[in-house]
Amino acid sequence: MNLAGSTVLVTGGSGFIGRQVVRSLTEAGARIRVVDLVAHPDPGVDVIIGDIADPATIERCFEDLTIDGVVHLAAVTSVLKSIEQPELTYQTNVAGTHRLLEGAREAGVGALAFASTNAVTGPMTAPKITEGQRLAPMTPYGATKAAGEMLMSAYTEVYGLRCTAIRLTNVYGPGMQAKDSIVARLMRCIRLGRSFEIYGDGSQVRDYVHSLDVVAAVTAALTDERWSGPVVIGSGTSLSVLDVVAQVKAITGAEFPVGHGPAKAGEMPAVIVDNGHARVLGWTPRYDFRTGVQGVWDEWRDLDLGGACAP
Ligand SMILES: NC(=O)c1ccc[n+]([C@@H]2O[C@H](COP(=O)([O-])OP(=O)(O)OC[C@H]3O[C@@H](n4cnc5c(N)ncnc54)[C@H](O)[C@@H]3O)[C@@H](O)[C@H]2O)c1
Repeated sequence: MNLAGSTVLVTGGSGFIGRQVVRSLTEAGARIRVVDLVAHPDPGVDVIIGDIADPATIERCFEDLTIDGVVHLAAVTSVLKSIEQPELTYQTNVAGTHRLLEGAREAGVGALAFASTNAVTGPMTAPKITEGQRLAPMTPYGATKAAGEMLMSAYTEVYGLRCTAIRLTNVYGPGMQAKDSIVARLMRCIRLGRSFEIYGDGSQVRDYVHSLDVVAAVTAALTDERWSGPVVIGSGTSLSVLDVVAQVKAITGAEFPVGHGPAKAGEMPAVIVDNGHARVLGWTPRYDFRTGVQGVWDEWRDLDLGGACAP
């Protein structure tokens, strides 16, 4: 699939990763349609406001345009929310994904890039997480993403809709003011003069991948025929929460009090990924944590306090 002159449907295109996908694919010459529960900040973007679990919404997405590719980002994205609301999580992440796949199949779409997660695998059983690790999700979030991957496996095999499940680690980057993940929480606490709470003892390790590296993976999944099935996308370097706090302090020059609260339910004990398969497919992370967080801080430093206060 060639992006220039193509039409791509982006579910969840008004969100953190979605806005960057929309911008990048538009710059590459694609016509974009977004489907999302909320409006896109750019009024020039073609948006269908609705729920992907609603058949009428999906029908509207495909009825008057020939869609060549789909980027599927819309989801209940919070692990904690998925534990509190498993039914909504199922409806959005499984029933909604199935609705979308049906719409794509009927419309003859060629390629679909899906934002999955390494949380489909659960606790590590080897030194690094690879695509080959057995699926053993620990939360409704991980389980419903795994279910989405299974549906896609079938649609790839039976209907020739080439689906790639991009298993993301923790994503950070510009435009994450509405997020509640660690980098955004640290930025907010610096700008608002608050203390930072570490969940648990802070020794838990995570991999952090920049949103523009994620956009590059999404683009490859749409355009490169070799991309299909699960692909682990992470920087390949893991940091403990204590390391992240120390690096953010060093990069920003900010001092802030740090305390410890209870560990959160459903947290993966460790995330250390092997991105070797993605590298074989031509993807390489361009951002190390220091460079990426410097860019995030440059953005947050200049925000007015209203912008820094969300959510
Ligand atoms: N951000 C991360 O660290 C991370 C890590 C792994 C996987 N992912 C996945 O990447 C995708 C995008 O994540 P994000 O960080 O941009 O999240 P986000 O919450 O910023 O964006 C998600 C968007 O989906 C929309 N949406 C939610 N439910 C919907 C529904 N039923 N119908 C239509 N639209 C709906 C929301 O309104 C929002 O605009 C998600 O699928 C998420 O699970 C993200």
